[in-house]
Amino acid sequence: MDRELALELVRITEKAAVASGRWMGLGMKNEADGAAVDAMRKAFDKVAVSGLVVIGEGEMDEAPMLYIGEEVGLGGPEIDIAVDPVEGTNLIAKGLPGSIAVMAIAPRGCLLNAPDMYMEKLCVGHRGKGRIDIAAPVRQNVLRVADAMNRDVKDMVVVILDRERHESIIREVRDTGARVKLISDGDVSPAVSVGIEGSGVHMLIGTGGAPEGVIAAAALKCLGGDMQARLWPENDDDIERAKKMGITDVKKILTIDDMVKGDEAFFVGTAITQCDFLEPVRYFKGGARTNSVVMRASTGTVRFIDAIHRFNAQAVSVRFK
Ligand code: FBP
Repeated sequence: MDRELALELVRITEKAAVASGRWMGLGMKNEADGAAVDAMRKAFDKVAVSGLVVIGEGEMDEAPMLYIGEEVGLGGPEIDIAVDPVEGTNLIAKGLPGSIAVMAIAPRGCLLNAPDMYMEKLCVGHRGKGRIDIAAPVRQNVLRVADAMNRDVKDMVVVILDRERHESIIREVRDTGARVKLISDGDVSPAVSVGIEGSGVHMLIGTGGAPEGVIAAAALKCLGGDMQARLWPENDDDIERAKKMGITDVKKILTIDDMVKGDEAFFVGTAITQCDFLEPVRYFKGGARTNSVVMRASTGTVRFIDAIHRFNAQAVSVRFK
Protein backbone atom coordinates (compact mmCIF):
# COMPACT_ATOMS: atom_id res chain seq x y z
CA MET A 1 0.00 0.00 0.00
CA ASP A 2 1.26 3.43 -0.93
CA ARG A 3 2.65 5.48 1.96
CA GLU A 4 0.89 8.55 0.53
CA LEU A 5 -2.31 6.95 1.80
CA ALA A 6 -1.47 8.19 5.29
CA LEU A 7 -2.47 11.76 4.48
CA GLU A 8 -5.57 10.65 2.59
CA LEU A 9 -6.70 8.68 5.63
CA VAL A 10 -6.14 11.61 7.99
CA ARG A 11 -8.37 13.78 5.82
CA ILE A 12 -11.17 11.28 6.34
CA THR A 13 -11.02 11.14 10.15
CA GLU A 14 -10.52 14.91 10.29
CA LYS A 15 -13.77 15.38 8.36
CA ALA A 16 -15.58 13.00 10.72
CA ALA A 17 -14.23 14.75 13.81
CA VAL A 18 -15.03 18.27 12.58
CA ALA A 19 -18.57 17.22 11.62
CA SER A 20 -19.37 15.39 14.86
CA GLY A 21 -17.56 17.74 17.25
CA ARG A 22 -20.37 20.26 16.69
CA TRP A 23 -22.60 17.92 18.70
CA MET A 24 -20.31 17.77 21.70
CA GLY A 25 -22.13 18.02 24.99
CA LEU A 26 -25.56 18.33 23.39
CA GLY A 27 -26.79 14.96 24.65
CA MET A 28 -27.46 13.68 21.12
CA LYS A 29 -25.16 10.77 20.44
CA ASN A 30 -26.99 9.52 17.34
CA GLU A 31 -26.81 12.93 15.69
CA ALA A 32 -23.09 13.16 16.49
CA ASP A 33 -22.52 9.71 15.04
CA GLY A 34 -24.67 10.45 11.97
CA ALA A 35 -22.71 13.61 11.17
CA ALA A 36 -19.41 11.74 11.39
CA VAL A 37 -20.61 8.80 9.29
CA ASP A 38 -21.94 11.12 6.61
CA ALA A 39 -18.68 13.11 6.46
CA MET A 40 -16.53 9.98 6.45
CA ARG A 41 -18.58 8.27 3.74
CA LYS A 42 -18.34 11.31 1.44
CA ALA A 43 -14.61 11.67 2.08
CA PHE A 44 -14.00 8.08 0.90
CA ASP A 45 -15.30 8.98 -2.57
CA LYS A 46 -12.14 11.03 -3.15
CA VAL A 47 -9.61 8.36 -2.17
CA ALA A 48 -7.90 6.13 -4.76
CA VAL A 49 -8.48 2.74 -3.15
CA SER A 50 -10.77 -0.22 -3.70
CA GLY A 51 -11.91 -0.38 -0.09
CA LEU A 52 -14.12 -3.01 1.48
CA VAL A 53 -15.70 -2.11 4.83
CA VAL A 54 -15.12 -5.13 7.08
CA ILE A 55 -15.93 -3.32 10.32
CA GLY A 56 -18.46 -0.55 10.00
CA GLU A 57 -21.76 0.88 11.05
CA GLY A 58 -23.89 -2.25 10.79
CA GLU A 59 -25.05 -5.14 8.67
CA MET A 60 -25.91 -4.87 4.98
CA ASP A 61 -29.63 -5.59 5.47
CA GLU A 62 -29.94 -2.55 7.77
CA ALA A 63 -28.18 -0.58 4.97
CA PRO A 64 -26.58 2.16 7.03
CA MET A 65 -23.81 4.15 5.38
CA LEU A 66 -20.48 2.32 5.77
CA TYR A 67 -22.21 -1.02 6.23
CA ILE A 68 -20.13 -4.19 6.46
CA GLY A 69 -19.48 -5.31 2.91
CA GLU A 70 -19.84 -1.84 1.36
CA GLU A 71 -17.25 -0.99 -1.27
CA VAL A 72 -15.80 2.50 -1.08
CA GLY A 73 -13.17 4.56 -2.86
CA LEU A 74 -12.32 5.60 -6.40
CA GLY A 75 -10.51 2.36 -7.25
CA GLY A 76 -6.91 1.37 -6.54
CA PRO A 77 -5.20 -1.03 -4.14
CA GLU A 78 -7.58 -3.56 -2.62
CA ILE A 79 -7.85 -2.90 1.09
CA ASP A 80 -9.91 -3.87 4.14
CA ILE A 81 -11.30 -0.96 6.11
CA ALA A 82 -12.39 -0.91 9.75
CA VAL A 83 -14.12 2.34 10.69
CA ASP A 84 -15.60 3.85 13.80
CA PRO A 85 -16.59 7.40 12.87
CA VAL A 86 -17.33 8.24 16.53
CA GLU A 87 -15.73 5.87 19.01
CA GLY A 88 -17.33 6.79 22.33
CA THR A 89 -20.72 8.20 21.36
CA ASN A 90 -21.76 8.65 25.03
CA LEU A 91 -18.56 10.61 25.63
CA ILE A 92 -19.23 13.10 22.85
CA ALA A 93 -22.87 13.44 23.91
CA LYS A 94 -21.75 14.31 27.44
CA GLY A 95 -18.76 16.41 26.39
CA LEU A 96 -16.38 14.01 28.15
CA PRO A 97 -12.80 13.17 27.12
CA GLY A 98 -11.91 10.10 25.03
CA SER A 99 -14.10 10.26 21.93
CA ILE A 100 -12.19 9.87 18.68
CA ALA A 101 -12.85 9.25 14.97
CA VAL A 102 -10.81 6.17 14.05
CA MET A 103 -10.02 3.91 11.16
CA ALA A 104 -7.69 1.02 10.42
CA ILE A 105 -6.80 -0.28 6.98
CA ALA A 106 -4.78 -3.25 5.74
CA PRO A 107 -4.46 -5.17 2.47
CA ARG A 108 -7.57 -7.17 1.52
CA GLY A 109 -8.13 -10.14 3.82
CA CYS A 110 -5.80 -8.89 6.57
CA LEU A 111 -8.29 -7.49 9.13
CA LEU A 112 -10.35 -9.86 11.26
CA ASN A 113 -14.02 -9.50 10.35
CA ALA A 114 -15.08 -9.15 13.96
CA PRO A 115 -18.81 -9.42 14.61
CA ASP A 116 -20.51 -6.77 16.72
CA MET A 117 -20.27 -8.54 20.08
CA TYR A 118 -18.09 -8.39 23.16
CA MET A 119 -14.42 -9.29 23.25
CA GLU A 120 -12.03 -9.75 26.18
CA LYS A 121 -8.95 -7.59 25.60
CA LEU A 122 -5.47 -7.29 27.05
CA CYS A 123 -3.36 -4.48 25.57
CA VAL A 124 0.20 -3.38 26.30
CA GLY A 125 2.89 -1.22 24.74
CA HIS A 126 6.10 -2.46 23.11
CA ARG A 127 7.92 -3.17 26.36
CA GLY A 128 5.20 -5.61 27.38
CA LYS A 129 5.26 -7.42 24.04
CA GLY A 130 5.41 -11.20 24.40
CA ARG A 131 4.76 -11.01 28.16
CA ILE A 132 0.96 -11.24 28.16
CA ASP A 133 -1.31 -14.27 28.34
CA ILE A 134 -5.04 -13.59 28.40
CA ALA A 135 -5.66 -17.11 29.74
CA ALA A 136 -3.44 -16.50 32.77
CA PRO A 137 -4.58 -14.76 35.97
CA VAL A 138 -4.76 -10.96 35.90
CA ARG A 139 -2.14 -10.80 38.67
CA GLN A 140 0.40 -12.70 36.60
CA ASN A 141 -0.11 -10.39 33.64
CA VAL A 142 0.20 -7.20 35.66
CA LEU A 143 3.35 -8.39 37.44
CA ARG A 144 5.00 -9.62 34.25
CA VAL A 145 4.29 -6.39 32.39
CA ALA A 146 5.51 -4.29 35.33
CA ASP A 147 8.72 -6.33 35.31
CA ALA A 148 9.11 -5.97 31.52
CA MET A 149 8.61 -2.22 31.84
CA ASN A 150 11.09 -2.03 34.71
CA ARG A 151 8.44 -0.43 36.91
CA ASP A 152 7.41 -1.06 40.46
CA VAL A 153 3.91 -2.47 40.32
CA LYS A 154 2.65 0.54 42.29
CA ASP A 155 3.81 2.72 39.39
CA MET A 156 1.59 0.88 36.92
CA VAL A 157 -1.75 2.30 35.76
CA VAL A 158 -4.26 -0.16 34.30
CA VAL A 159 -7.25 1.11 32.31
CA ILE A 160 -10.54 -0.75 32.78
CA LEU A 161 -14.07 0.04 31.58
CA ASP A 162 -16.18 0.81 34.64
CA ARG A 163 -18.68 -2.04 34.35
CA GLU A 164 -20.17 -4.52 36.81
CA ARG A 165 -18.77 -7.35 34.72
CA HIS A 166 -15.28 -6.10 35.60
CA GLU A 167 -15.66 -6.13 39.39
CA SER A 168 -13.32 -9.07 39.88
CA ILE A 169 -10.72 -7.79 37.40
CA ILE A 170 -10.68 -4.41 39.16
CA ARG A 171 -10.20 -6.14 42.52
CA GLU A 172 -7.44 -8.39 41.18
CA VAL A 173 -5.55 -5.45 39.66
CA ARG A 174 -5.87 -3.43 42.87
CA ASP A 175 -4.64 -6.44 44.86
CA THR A 176 -1.38 -6.39 42.91
CA GLY A 177 -0.74 -2.83 44.12
CA ALA A 178 -1.18 -1.34 40.64
CA ARG A 179 -3.44 1.66 40.22
CA VAL A 180 -6.64 1.58 38.18
CA LYS A 181 -8.04 4.16 35.78
CA LEU A 182 -11.74 3.49 35.35
CA ILE A 183 -13.30 4.82 32.15
CA SER A 184 -17.00 5.22 31.48
CA ASP A 185 -16.84 4.47 27.72
CA GLY A 186 -14.49 4.35 24.77
CA ASP A 187 -11.72 1.79 25.13
CA VAL A 188 -9.95 2.46 21.79
CA SER A 189 -8.25 5.70 22.76
CA PRO A 190 -6.77 4.24 26.00
CA ALA A 191 -5.76 1.05 24.15
CA VAL A 192 -3.72 3.25 21.81
CA SER A 193 -2.42 5.26 24.78
CA VAL A 194 -0.82 2.21 26.38
CA GLY A 195 1.35 1.96 23.27
CA ILE A 196 2.57 5.55 23.64
CA GLU A 197 5.19 6.17 26.31
CA GLY A 198 4.42 9.14 28.51
CA SER A 199 0.66 8.81 28.15
CA GLY A 200 0.46 7.76 31.81
CA VAL A 201 -1.27 4.41 31.25
CA HIS A 202 0.41 1.04 30.87
CA MET A 203 -2.16 -1.70 30.29
CA LEU A 204 -5.78 -2.05 29.28
CA ILE A 205 -7.74 -5.05 30.51
CA GLY A 206 -11.38 -6.02 30.16
CA THR A 207 -14.28 -6.75 27.88
CA GLY A 208 -15.52 -4.25 25.30
CA GLY A 209 -16.64 -4.22 21.68
CA ALA A 210 -14.95 -6.66 19.30
CA PRO A 211 -14.92 -4.23 16.33
CA GLU A 212 -13.16 -1.66 18.53
CA GLY A 213 -10.72 -4.42 19.51
CA VAL A 214 -9.57 -4.96 15.93
CA ILE A 215 -9.08 -1.21 15.39
CA ALA A 216 -7.02 -1.02 18.60
CA ALA A 217 -4.99 -4.04 17.46
CA ALA A 218 -4.04 -2.19 14.26
CA ALA A 219 -2.81 0.80 16.28
CA LEU A 220 -0.82 -1.39 18.66
CA LYS A 221 0.73 -3.25 15.74
CA CYS A 222 1.93 0.07 14.30
CA LEU A 223 3.29 1.06 17.73
CA GLY A 224 5.09 -2.27 18.28
CA GLY A 225 2.79 -3.07 21.19
CA ASP A 226 0.91 -6.28 21.86
CA MET A 227 -2.66 -7.43 22.32
CA GLN A 228 -4.48 -10.65 23.01
CA ALA A 229 -8.23 -11.05 22.80
CA ARG A 230 -11.03 -13.60 22.98
CA LEU A 231 -14.58 -13.21 21.72
CA TRP A 232 -17.18 -13.12 24.49
CA PRO A 233 -20.44 -14.30 22.91
CA GLU A 234 -23.45 -13.73 25.16
CA ASN A 235 -25.82 -16.15 23.42
CA ASP A 236 -26.26 -18.60 20.54
CA ASP A 237 -27.09 -15.76 18.20
CA ASP A 238 -23.64 -14.21 18.83
CA ILE A 239 -22.00 -17.57 18.14
CA GLU A 240 -23.95 -17.94 14.90
CA ARG A 241 -23.00 -14.44 13.75
CA ALA A 242 -19.33 -15.11 14.50
CA LYS A 243 -19.50 -18.32 12.46
CA LYS A 244 -21.16 -16.51 9.57
CA MET A 245 -18.24 -14.10 9.57
CA GLY A 246 -15.80 -16.98 9.29
CA ILE A 247 -14.85 -17.42 12.96
CA THR A 248 -15.37 -21.12 13.62
CA ASP A 249 -13.69 -21.34 17.02
CA VAL A 250 -15.26 -18.52 19.05
CA LYS A 251 -13.20 -19.43 22.13
CA LYS A 252 -9.87 -19.11 20.34
CA ILE A 253 -7.33 -16.77 21.88
CA LEU A 254 -6.71 -14.16 19.23
CA THR A 255 -3.22 -12.74 18.94
CA ILE A 256 -2.48 -9.34 17.45
CA ASP A 257 -1.48 -11.17 14.24
CA ASP A 258 -4.82 -12.99 14.11
CA MET A 259 -6.61 -9.65 14.25
CA VAL A 260 -4.29 -7.77 11.89
CA LYS A 261 -2.34 -10.03 9.55
CA GLY A 262 1.03 -8.94 8.17
CA ASP A 263 2.80 -5.63 8.58
CA GLU A 264 1.01 -3.44 6.11
CA ALA A 265 -1.62 -1.87 8.35
CA PHE A 266 -2.32 1.82 8.90
CA PHE A 267 -4.15 3.32 11.89
CA VAL A 268 -5.52 6.83 11.94
CA GLY A 269 -7.42 8.77 14.57
CA THR A 270 -8.59 12.36 15.03
CA ALA A 271 -9.65 13.38 18.52
CA ILE A 272 -13.16 14.72 18.86
CA THR A 273 -12.95 15.43 22.57
CA GLN A 274 -9.66 15.50 24.50
CA CYS A 275 -7.67 12.26 24.35
CA ASP A 276 -4.54 11.33 26.34
CA PHE A 277 -2.34 11.99 23.32
CA LEU A 278 -4.42 14.34 21.15
CA GLU A 279 -6.07 17.74 21.52
CA PRO A 280 -9.82 17.97 20.82
CA VAL A 281 -11.48 19.67 17.83
CA ARG A 282 -11.46 23.41 18.47
CA TYR A 283 -13.76 25.66 16.44
CA PHE A 284 -13.24 29.33 15.72
CA LYS A 285 -15.01 31.75 13.42
CA GLY A 286 -14.59 30.39 9.90
CA GLY A 287 -12.63 27.28 10.78
CA ALA A 288 -11.54 24.50 13.11
CA ARG A 289 -8.32 22.97 14.38
CA THR A 290 -7.81 19.21 14.67
CA ASN A 291 -5.19 16.93 16.13
CA SER A 292 -4.64 13.51 14.57
CA VAL A 293 -2.27 10.60 14.64
CA VAL A 294 -1.51 8.39 11.66
CA MET A 295 0.72 5.35 11.91
CA ARG A 296 2.08 2.78 9.49
CA ALA A 297 3.05 -0.67 10.67
CA SER A 298 5.58 -1.50 7.96
CA THR A 299 7.86 1.43 8.82
CA GLY A 300 6.65 2.18 12.35
CA THR A 301 6.31 5.86 11.45
CA VAL A 302 3.94 7.74 13.75
CA ARG A 303 2.84 11.18 12.61
CA PHE A 304 1.01 13.64 14.83
CA ILE A 305 -0.83 16.12 12.62
CA ASP A 306 -2.01 19.50 13.85
CA ALA A 307 -4.32 20.87 11.15
CA ILE A 308 -6.12 24.16 10.67
CA HIS A 309 -9.20 23.85 8.48
CA ARG A 310 -10.33 27.15 6.99
CA PHE A 311 -13.90 26.87 5.78
CA ASN A 312 -13.30 29.94 3.63
CA ALA A 313 -9.57 30.29 2.97
CA GLN A 314 -9.68 34.04 2.31
CA ALA A 315 -11.60 34.95 5.43
CA VAL A 316 -9.58 33.46 8.27
CA SER A 317 -6.06 34.12 9.48
CA VAL A 318 -3.86 31.28 10.76
CA ARG A 319 -2.61 31.28 14.34
CA PHE A 320 0.45 29.45 15.60
CA LYS A 321 -1.25 28.10 18.74
P1 FBP B 1 -20.07 3.53 21.19
O1 FBP B 1 -20.44 2.46 20.22
O2 FBP B 1 -21.22 4.24 21.76
O3 FBP B 1 -19.07 4.46 20.62
O4 FBP B 1 -19.41 2.82 22.48
C1 FBP B 1 -18.16 2.30 22.37
C2 FBP B 1 -17.71 1.56 23.62
O5 FBP B 1 -17.63 2.35 24.78
C3 FBP B 1 -16.39 0.91 23.28
O6 FBP B 1 -15.29 1.77 23.36
C4 FBP B 1 -16.36 -0.25 24.22
O7 FBP B 1 -15.52 -1.25 23.68
C5 FBP B 1 -17.81 -0.68 24.29
O8 FBP B 1 -18.59 0.46 23.87
C6 FBP B 1 -18.24 -1.11 25.64
O9 FBP B 1 -19.52 -1.62 25.57
P2 FBP B 1 -20.57 -1.50 26.79
O10 FBP B 1 -20.93 -0.04 26.92
O11 FBP B 1 -21.73 -2.30 26.34
O12 FBP B 1 -19.92 -2.02 28.00
